[in-house]
Amino acid sequence: MKKTDKPWSGRFAAPVDEFVKAFSASVGFDRRLYRQDIAGSIAHARMLAQVGVLTGAERDAIVTGLEAIQAEIEAGTFVWDTALEDVHMNIEARLIARIGEAGKKLHTGRSRNDQVATDLRLFLRDAVDQLDAAIARLQAVIVDLAEREADSVMPGFTHLQAAQPVTFGHHLLAWFEMLARDRARLVDARARINVLPLGAAALAGTSFPIDRAYTAQLLGFAAPAENSLDAVSDRDFAIEFTAACALLAMHLSRFSEELILWSSSQFGFVELPDAFCTGSSIMPQKKNPDVPELVRGKAGRVYGHLIALLTVMKAQPLAYNKDNQEDKEPLFDTLDTVLACLQAYAGMLPGIEVRREAMRHAASQGFCTATDLADYLVRKGVAFRDAHEIVAQAVRHGVETGKDLSAMSVEELRAFSGAIGPDVTAVLTLEGSLAARAHLGGTAPSQVRAAVARARQRLAGHGL
Ligand code: ARG
Repeated sequence: MKKTDKPWSGRFAAPVDEFVKAFSASVGFDRRLYRQDIAGSIAHARMLAQVGVLTGAERDAIVTGLEAIQAEIEAGTFVWDTALEDVHMNIEARLIARIGEAGKKLHTGRSRNDQVATDLRLFLRDAVDQLDAAIARLQAVIVDLAEREADSVMPGFTHLQAAQPVTFGHHLLAWFEMLARDRARLVDARARINVLPLGAAALAGTSFPIDRAYTAQLLGFAAPAENSLDAVSDRDFAIEFTAACALLAMHLSRFSEELILWSSSQFGFVELPDAFCTGSSIMPQKKNPDVPELVRGKAGRVYGHLIALLTVMKAQPLAYNKDNQEDKEPLFDTLDTVLACLQAYAGMLPGIEVRREAMRHAASQGFCTATDLADYLVRKGVAFRDAHEIVAQAVRHGVETGKDLSAMSVEELRAFSGAIGPDVTAVLTLEGSLAARAHLGGTAPSQVRAAVARARQRLAGHGL
């Protein structure tokens, strides 16, 4: 006589405590894996029939039943039952209710341990593909902006102090490169995600004559996992996915910080689209950069998930432990969070108004062409250290007189070095400074245009 409604209750003399049932149930969140769970079960059933463990009729009943269950779930008519713990047992119980005896055979030669690991890998493989597409969309937006702003001058910063003039297009392409590496990391992680755990069963494999290569092929996995203990226990692939997402979130938080600074009235470099800002309930003049601020804040949330997953995995002995049930919520939220941030950025960036005059004005302050003057002196035969000192004197003079280097006359500049001639004027303009940096990776407008062309090639699939 069964003491409870659980499929595993046969060896139990007393029913499980009500609180413990609720405490250990995961169906509230892992139901999100229903598609992966059904796909995995269909492949498993096909493999079992292929090797003669199931008959063709049993396989067909199972496949048809599972497809019908997927339709029920998608129609919203499926009744999820917490008493059945998780997505796996909910679907299996429903299958048995629908098709009877054949349904009871589906779990032959597998366990929920290899089942859940398979579901998770299918889920993350799909997640990587979604993220890759979403990052590529944002990169395309950035490249378009960079092309439009290839000639726009702004101060480049180090230590958030105006350092040297750069083009805004060049700055935007720095963002493009960060995102390119984020994609590359995810694609790289995908190779380690795309390995099949099924066949590991609970931990030691199964006594049935399974064909794991066939199951792998049906599910599009590159190969079956080599070791059954490892296959059911490690979640390093999920941690790696989250780590790649944490880096992506870190990059998005840096873009956000810049947009927040630049849209402040103190900088005034950009104006964010109204649709991506909010006002203040008390200060009528406020237009707050909420969307970049939220994206910046969400990085903290994704970092938290990474630490959570690392800590869940830490010190777990082989093989499967229930600790691993704690992997799902952080993973789901990581994906949802970074996808939402990417969507926000792809929507917001095209609506940004660039205040080119303000950027240019800021670049013309702060002695941004001081390095150009030093380089000029070096070309005239002055050693770089001496040139550095000469320019420092000129800058000090500029600070005292309130004049930028480009505002000083040649005569004024010659007071600091006789090597300075009339040809210095072109060197000290913003355009002169930019145009001089015309090598690969430099900020010259010509280089930005060339980099935009290469970026477009890469987006079209010719190398990341
Ligand atoms: N809900 C479980 C999880 O997410 C499925 C595997 C349960 N396995 C077990 N032996 N209790 O990890």
